[in-house]
Formats: sequence, structure tokens, C-alpha cells
Amino acid sequence: MTKRVAILISGGGSNMVTLADSMVGDHPARPCLVLSNVPDAGGLQKARDRGIPADVVDHRDFKGDREAFENALVSAIDPHAPDILCLAGFMRILTPLFITRYAGKMLNIHPSLLPKYKGLHTHARALAAGDAEAGCSVHEVTAELDGGPILGQARVPVRPADTPDSLAARVLEQEHRLYPAVLRRFASGDRTPIFLPWLSVPAKKG
Ligand code: GRF
Repeated sequence: MTKRVAILISGGGSNMVTLADSMVGDHPARPCLVLSNVPDAGGLQKARDRGIPADVVDHRDFKGDREAFENALVSAIDPHAPDILCLAGFMRILTPLFITRYAGKMLNIHPSLLPKYKGLHTHARALAAGDAEAGCSVHEVTAELDGGPILGQARVPVRPADTPDSLAARVLEQEHRLYPAVLRRFASGDRTPIFLPWLSVPAKKG
């Protein structure tokens, strides 16, 4: 039975694009919804261009009432009957109300080698610590922020001239390798973690 995947975004949606574009052929899942909390998120048009239903629940309409915002998210999500939710650059913290509803079927990608650097500014923190490597992690979402079981990690070298932006760009390339690989395995019912070796992605031709 093909799994239905809802993807939550807040921005450009590069991870959403790689996930959506990976769900073809004999892939056990297909995208059923792209949902953003930001009305002008660039990822929304990319979803529509791919024929994926796209919707917005603007968190600003709920003025800090997290429960009302999350109930609105649920109302937007559930008609699409997803089997899996992928948080992909979704920048709102979710409460146990929402997390419990989708327990066991919600994934997130975080731009650090968890459990290191939970929360924000991960690349600046890795550089400040003088780490020799950085990377990204896909994990199941639990009530602990960035704390659920790890389903995959990809590593990148940190270079002497790196800035948070240059490191973020190197990590993002690996996010685009890791998340689709983890989703495919997760959608097939396999929770065995995936650890990707460092592989610099060739610059896009043309
Ligand atoms: C990226 O920095 C990524 O590390 C994190 O969310 C940010 C935006 O990603 N997961 P995207 O391009 O919107 O997928």
C-alpha cells in the first residue's frame, strides 16, 4: 500500500523538493500535501509546480496560541490522510499535543550531528567549538526537541575558511542525499539507521 507523505515547510523547501522528486517509480510513498506556516514560502509554488496540494496555516493568525495553531495544522493535514509527516525546514516548535497525534510517523531533519547542537545556530556553534566535522541528522520527532531516535546521519568536513554559511551549504547538500534515503527506508517499514559517508556532491552542470 503506497504511503502518503505530508511535508511541512517554512521556507524555500529544498528538502521538500528532493523528497517529493524522490517519490517516483517503485518508491513505497508519494507526497500528498505540502503545508507551510509562512504564506509566501518559496516551497509552496515548487509544490504546486509538481502538482502537489499546497496549503498554508499562518502561525501569526494565532498570536502565540500554540494549541489553536496546532489544531489548525491538524485540520489542514488530516483530510489528506498522511501515513508519514516530514518536517523539512519547518521552523515552529511543536507541542506534545501535535507530536502525540502523529507519534511514530513524524520525521525531522536537523542540521547537526545529533545529539550535538540541538536547537538553532548549529553551524556557528560547530565552528566556535572547532569541530573537525559537522553534518545533519534525520530523527523521529518526539516531545524532546531534536531528541527522537536517529534514523540517519551524514557527515561533512569542516574547513579552516568555513563560515556558518559555507558550512550550511555543504551540509544542505548532504541533507538532500540523506532525507530521501531515510524516507524511502522508513516508508518501507525499516527503521534501521542510515549513515552516509562524506561524498562531495558534484557542482550542478550548466
Ligand atoms: C536548512 O538550513 C536545513 O538545514 C534545515 O532547514 C533549512 C531550510 O531548508 N532543515 P529547506 O531549503 O527549506 O528545505
